[in-house]
Amino acid sequence: MNWQSFKSGDVLADHAAHILLTTIHQSPATVLALPTGRSPLGMYERVVNECEREYRCFRDVTTFNLDEYAGVPREHAGSYWTYMKRHLFDHVDIDPKNIHIPDGMAADLDAECRRYEEEIRAAGGLALTFLGLGRNGHIGFNEPGSPFDARTRVVELTPSTRAANAEFFPDGNVPSRAITMGIATILESRAIVLLASGAGKQEAIERLRSGSVDESFPASALRLHPNVTVLSA
Ligand code: GLP
Repeated sequence: MNWQSFKSGDVLADHAAHILLTTIHQSPATVLALPTGRSPLGMYERVVNECEREYRCFRDVTTFNLDEYAGVPREHAGSYWTYMKRHLFDHVDIDPKNIHIPDGMAADLDAECRRYEEEIRAAGGLALTFLGLGRNGHIGFNEPGSPFDARTRVVELTPSTRAANAEFFPDGNVPSRAITMGIATILESRAIVLLASGAGKQEAIERLRSGSVDESFPASALRLHPNVTVLSA
């Protein structure tokens, strides 16, 4: 793995945005997997600033989000659909038909997961995946114990993950399930960039750097991949 550490989250965000924008410039029809959470906010802000000035920035880009809550309507303020619109999609020239986010309200969630995998395949696979890092080592919503060969599926969220995301559900109805790309799906991406900043992430970063490759720490699967960059601050 390629490790790059930065003196602040701002510098990390500059660098992450640079990677994303360079990829789009070199390959305008690229296929990206995108994360939510606090970690990528600075990256999206910078990408939006650049793309507002640029002609045809996201025009031919295809995106797949890593995950979405189950049972939460798209329009809900806490959904990842709302997050992505607010922080990226409403501000760039992406073609709506190229945006993919799992439908957590689908009548048949398992069928939705299979459909999502099929869409990724039909798009030619993921070229570049950005990931955040959960304190417990989760990537996407692959919680500890997730098999490394898992594909997109419905998962139960751990109490610690629900607590970490509770502020986005002020009515107290924090979702207990989600759809997430599986670790195998993520590992098929041709390149992966993991963003981890803040004091709360130091322990997880350390474990990723020097711990064993083990399903009890999902991010450790990244050590099996030939092209992973970890940006930490
Ligand atoms: C959430 C998301 C993950 C994200 C993680 C870390 O639960 N499903 O994809 O990476 O938590 O979030 P944050 O960046 O806010 O610490």
